[in-house]
Amino acid sequence: MKTEFIKADISKPLDDQLTPAAEILKRGGLVAFPTETVYGLGACALDSDAAKKIYAAKGRPSDNPLIIHISRPEDAEKYCFTNETFYKLSSAFMPGPITVIMPKKPIIPDAVTGGLDTVAVRIPSDKVANKLIELCGFPIAAPSANISGKPSPTDADAVMRDMNGRIDMVIDGGECNIGVESTIVKPISDGVKLLRPGGITVGMLEAVVGKVEIDPVITEKPTDDRKPEAPGMKYRHYAPIAKMTLICGDGKDFFERAAEFINKKISENENTGVLCSDEAAAKIKGKYVVSLGAGNDPAMHAHRLFKALRNFDDMPVDRIYAISDGKDEVELAVYNRMIKAAGYDIISI
Ligand code: TXA
Ligand code: MG
Repeated sequence: MKTEFIKADISKPLDDQLTPAAEILKRGGLVAFPTETVYGLGACALDSDAAKKIYAAKGRPSDNPLIIHISRPEDAEKYCFTNETFYKLSSAFMPGPITVIMPKKPIIPDAVTGGLDTVAVRIPSDKVANKLIELCGFPIAAPSANISGKPSPTDADAVMRDMNGRIDMVIDGGECNIGVESTIVKPISDGVKLLRPGGITVGMLEAVVGKVEIDPVITEKPTDDRKPEAPGMKYRHYAPIAKMTLICGDGKDFFERAAEFINKKISENENTGVLCSDEAAAKIKGKYVVSLGAGNDPAMHAHRLFKALRNFDDMPVDRIYAISDGKDEVELAVYNRMIKAAGYDIISI
């Protein structure tokens, strides 16, 4: 299949630019498009056959449900049974990087929800994404536009690397602002359960809904008795080709200790990659050090993380060590992606 590549220019009217993409989606095709979190791989969410093509293009297990993307909160009524918590969340955070799990209405096919009786609903704030949904007039089902298991793409080049020849079109809308996937929550009686951390943080959620219960698999490896509520959280994910280990710890001299540990590894094997923030990077003596930005800029860490993980695949490294900067607020999203990228190989020092 030939994959068409178009650039969207948000300084000009988008309707004409995006009409060909909407046409492809209307006839059951696949289009990758930018969102404020990561690029999505879209299909019509009301069409089982179209949704199945997403699973084939990504090599995604069919029990891993898709998020449906709508352009306005009031459209949610058509596809799920909403409640008060949904509207509290939508007035505070939508459009934006949050996904809410709600009981589904029959119009959403089982192929989209992996047979679950709930559906994940999100309203992207990205202008291209929002306009594309509006032009279609139906919700767009979209997972991240990567081959299953790879880091999610945060620019159109990364999408092309994974999806060229597998889908009908890629829309280039530049770099994604946030860089990690949306926060996923499920309303519970007295608040929400957090199923995946993202740009909308625990503190932001608490201020709006009260209680936030954190799914333990966000910070720990899933086991038979500790199964994630978001099916996708059980799979190995985000992994660079070289094996990665995450170094954790705390205290004032943590970066010092981490650097000492890693520098020793580098002296034994110069093809060692290191992923960390600027402060730690200054102490590392290797050739393949990738910084996520200043230690006090967690939003930058999220923004750069997936590109950094993909970068290692282009370097002659056969081993990677990442240094954790903590688990507070946005850093929880970064930590969660890092432990998965490391296949839960974590060393505390
Ligand atoms: O930011 C995002 O959310 C991006 C952009 C494209 O919108 N999308 C994204 O989709 O990250 P994906 O498919 O890569 O991740 C969706 C996650 C998976 O872990 C999936 O298991 C979970 O959402 N999920 C989807 N529907 C669910 C449901 N009904 N109940 C629980 N988890 C669900
Ligand atoms: Mg994904």
